[in-house]
Amino acid sequence: MNSDASGSPMRVHVVTASDRASAGVYADLSGPAVAEAVEQHFRAAGIAVSVSREILPDDSDRLAAAMVAAVDKGCRLVVTTGGTGIGPRDLTPEATRKVIEREIPGLMEDVRRRSAENAPGALLSRGVAGIRGQSLIVNLPGSVKAVRECLGMILPLVPHALRMAEGGDHDS
Ligand code: MTE
Repeated sequence: MNSDASGSPMRVHVVTASDRASAGVYADLSGPAVAEAVEQHFRAAGIAVSVSREILPDDSDRLAAAMVAAVDKGCRLVVTTGGTGIGPRDLTPEATRKVIEREIPGLMEDVRRRSAENAPGALLSRGVAGIRGQSLIVNLPGSVKAVRECLGMILPLVPHALRMAEGGDHDS
C-alpha cells in the first residue's frame, strides 16, 4: 500500500471530537498533533499523504457521519481524537462502532496496555479501531501527549492493515 493506483497521495482524515474546541472555547491542539505525526511518519516511509481535518462537538451522529463521509471520499485512514474516556460526553467509541464493519480489538487493547505502563489513566480510554470498506478508523484520546504515544504504536501497522483490508497477501 503506497499511494493509490493512480499515484495520488493516500488520503487521511482527522476528526477532533470536542464540544469546547468546536465552540472555540479553546484551540484544538490534538488534531494538528495527529496531522503532524501522520505526515512525519509517512514522509519518512516514502508514502505521500494528504491530511484533512475537522473539529466536531461530542455528538454521536455527527461524528459517525463525518467518519462515513471521510471513507466515502476515499480516505484510507480516519483518526479521531478525543471523547474516548468515561466522561458524560465521551462517546466517540459508540459513534465509531456505528460505522465500522469489523472491529480490530487487539490494536487498541495493546495500545492501552503499553500506554498504561507509563500513564495508568490510559486504561480509562475506550477507543476502538476497525475497518469500514478498505479504510481503517482509529480512535485516539484527546491529549497531544496521548496522540503522539498512541500513533507511535499504531502508524507502523497501517500499511499492512490497509493491504489486508484490500485483500492483499501478507507478502505483497
Ligand atoms: N493514552 C496515552 N498513551 N497517554 C495518556 O496520557 N491519557 C489517558 C487516556 N489515554 C493517556 C492515554 C487519560 S488521562 C484519559 S482520561 C483517557 O485517555 C481518555 O481521554 P479522552 O477522553 O481525551 O479521549
